[in-house]
Amino acid sequence: MSETPRVLLVGAGAVGQVFGKYLQAAGCELSFLVKEKYADEARRGFTLYELGMLEKDLEPVVFSGFGVHVSNEEVAARRWDQVWLCVSSTALRAGSWVGELARATGDATWVMLQPSLDDRDWLLQWIPAERLVSGMIPFISFHAPLKPGERFPKPGTAFWMPPMTKGPFSGPSERLPRVIRTLRAGGYPARASQDVARDVAIPSAVLTVFVNGLEAAGWSFERFLQHDSLERVHRAAREAVQVAASHTKGSASAVLPLLRPALFKLMLPIAARLTPFDLETYLKVHFTKVGEQTRLMMKTYVDLGRRAGLPVEHLLPAH
Ligand SMILES: NC(=O)c1ccc[n+]([C@@H]2O[C@H](COP(=O)([O-])OP(=O)(O)OC[C@H]3O[C@@H](n4cnc5c(N)ncnc54)[C@H](OP(=O)(O)O)[C@@H]3O)[C@@H](O)[C@H]2O)c1
Repeated sequence: MSETPRVLLVGAGAVGQVFGKYLQAAGCELSFLVKEKYADEARRGFTLYELGMLEKDLEPVVFSGFGVHVSNEEVAARRWDQVWLCVSSTALRAGSWVGELARATGDATWVMLQPSLDDRDWLLQWIPAERLVSGMIPFISFHAPLKPGERFPKPGTAFWMPPMTKGPFSGPSERLPRVIRTLRAGGYPARASQDVARDVAIPSAVLTVFVNGLEAAGWSFERFLQHDSLERVHRAAREAVQVAASHTKGSASAVLPLLRPALFKLMLPIAARLTPFDLETYLKVHFTKVGEQTRLMMKTYVDLGRRAGLPVEHLLPAH
């Protein structure tokens, strides 16, 4: 393993660019593996905006100075210490590229960030547990502007790290410390966790059902907060939380009493007020982009719930 970690980020979208910025700041030798259609844009470099809590003029920051690859052959010609998967859960399963990339990247540590309940099990087909680190994405990033008239001097990727946030990572003791050390050296607030999959399973279940309900309400907070919509979402969220707890051998007992329609009524306006961007528009834009992933995750709750003999009737798609 080299002193300067050689890092390959798969996917140079909203998330890949942000992790790339921190890893480059840590001194990593950085490359992206992108689809051919994005290669020119990536080679020109990206424009980043870091959002704070205060509304002030935004300074675009140029993010460049990394390699750009478009094929496994190019990747296989180099040695890698870390491979970061910055794509959706559905992109992981599209074709056979993950297995091929695993063969092209030798003994590298793989860092997965995907949210679906069975992503880790799925990846273990190709990457042994001794080399697989799991992380959760605590920031929000998006292509800016989200809508016309916003305060960005030119198009780019905006990101917001909520105050006091720590991004959890878990994995084998021989690999995890180096990933965390590297991120911290770049100024990223990383922390070690016993089991990220378990930490995030329940919040992710609530978020997924919420997003599914918001989509059914036409991405409108006002319509989402109406009685019938809230009732449906709260029942489905209870089922998803129980599936998530059962699958990760965790407990839902502390969360279930809190899961009430009133919780969404209370939290949504607070969240909208705290975010330094238009939350309603972000949710619509982002979760339309990863809509297939939300459907995959909903189906996964149903499949795993049925297998475990748990109720799933409110998680089923409406006909
Ligand atoms: N952005 C956020 O605020 C945020 C927050 C928390 C979690 N996440 C999660 O992070 C994941 C990525 O989100 P994102 O916002 O970064 O999405 P994104 O902006 O769409 O970026 C993903 C990029 O990876 C590309 N890609 C897909 N398969 C690839 C492959 N085999 N090789 C190389 N590139 C590939 C995609 O291409 P195409 O455009 O052709 O699909 C896209 O350019 C999702 O699971 C999302 O739910 C995102």
